[in-house]
Amino acid sequence: MWVIDIFENKDFAISIFILKHGFTMPIHDHPGMYGFLKVISGVVQVNNYTLKANEDHTIRLNKEVMAFRHKPISLHSNSPACTLTPRDKNLHEITCIEGPAAFLDILSPPYDVDDSGKGPRPCTFFKTVSSSKLCTDSSDIVEEVKLVVIKGPPDFYSGSLKYTGPPLM
Ligand SMILES: [Fe+2]
Repeated sequence: MWVIDIFENKDFAISIFILKHGFTMPIHDHPGMYGFLKVISGVVQVNNYTLKANEDHTIRLNKEVMAFRHKPISLHSNSPACTLTPRDKNLHEITCIEGPAAFLDILSPPYDVDDSGKGPRPCTFFKTVSSSKLCTDSSDIVEEVKLVVIKGPPDFYSGSLKYTGPPLM
């Protein structure tokens, strides 16, 4: 996975992520943040998760949390952006199903902006421990899942590429 950082200030960060075919960016969170993901090339599948309880952001290794998994969505360059809020669909897993794929990612505030005196916002990674199907006809929630905090995979980033487009500001 490659990342191109385009712009960052204290309010938001804009990057482009490039994923090779078959690569999965594991389930991770965006503490207290809003996010906007727009595919510009290839196809990605996104699994969104909403935590059942409003957890604080200091999540320890091996800690378990309960969440709802939403219906997976496939996104390509003509799809609308996929959004997340501090509460709703704050965790997601992104798999490149037709690659390479690239998506624009806008986060507000950025990960390294102080979270009301608690320091930068850590990005926590999770894996699914167990799941149970939910039959609800009115919502897009398909499963209740138990997630456990894992260490971020060491080979997560292949590297960063320099942005050579026009300056944004
Ligand atoms: Fe993300």
